[in-house]
Amino acid sequence: MTEPTRDDWAPGFFTPLYARMYRGPLFDADGTEREVAFLASRFADCDGPVLDVGCGFGRHAVPLRKRGHRVVGTDRFAHLLREQPARGRRAVAADMRTLPFADGAFAGLYCVFNTFGYFEHRDNQRVLREWARVVRPGGRLVLQAPHRPVMADIVREHEPSQTFMGGATMSEEYAYDGRRRAMLGRGVWQTSAGEQSWNFELRLYAADELEKELARAGWQVIECHGDYDETDFDDEESAHVVFVAQRKG
Ligand SMILES: C[S@@+](CC[C@H](N)C(=O)[O-])C[C@H]1O[C@@H](n2cnc3c(N)ncnc32)[C@H](O)[C@@H]1O
Repeated sequence: MTEPTRDDWAPGFFTPLYARMYRGPLFDADGTEREVAFLASRFADCDGPVLDVGCGFGRHAVPLRKRGHRVVGTDRFAHLLREQPARGRRAVAADMRTLPFADGAFAGLYCVFNTFGYFEHRDNQRVLREWARVVRPGGRLVLQAPHRPVMADIVREHEPSQTFMGGATMSEEYAYDGRRRAMLGRGVWQTSAGEQSWNFELRLYAADELEKELARAGWQVIECHGDYDETDFDDEESAHVVFVAQRKG
């Protein structure tokens, strides 16, 4: 039996205004370029399509397609998929726990930008197994996730803030819930296009714990970085982990 999910915050966060914020004032061009270059290198030798889980408006899928990669995007929210240019768009609205694809349909899969950890632990495990189902044996995974010990400290030390950027005002505050091992965020975005209060919840994993969960789900980790520039992962310093894994079998 699956546990009740606590992802009810998601529809109130991933709205058209979210897309407007992350395509505008919050868009990180350099970071995106680094991420795209990393993904392009890891999927360079793929002889089949690659799935972008939680692709949103296509921040990675669109430039990867331009480089010639066969990327299919999937996201829970169809309005985000419609923001991808229609030309070359291959996008399917779905929940990442139950993907509407055949076993082994993909040669690779990636899930980046804090997109893993949206559910209670058992459903997060189910997500990793679902990815293993749709990727063929030998296929590749790139997964970025926060590294709990370091990220929890950052969150604990974070002061509520208000920022003005690109015509938008952003207020945000974060807390760490040790019992649920979750990072909790809430805030308000104000723009000329409207205003939105949001909540955000992310179940955090330590890198070694996530590596074990990946192994249990059918993945073998072959690379572990602290960033997309291939910085070595450091258990005490890295706020994030970037895994490259291979589908066992
Ligand atoms: C933090 S955003 C990252 C978007 C994109 N990967 C990027 O880097 O710009 C997380 C994405 O996951 C999607 N998402 C949220 N819950 C989901 C679910 N249950 N199944 C599939 N996608 C989901 C959101 O709509 C959003 O596009």
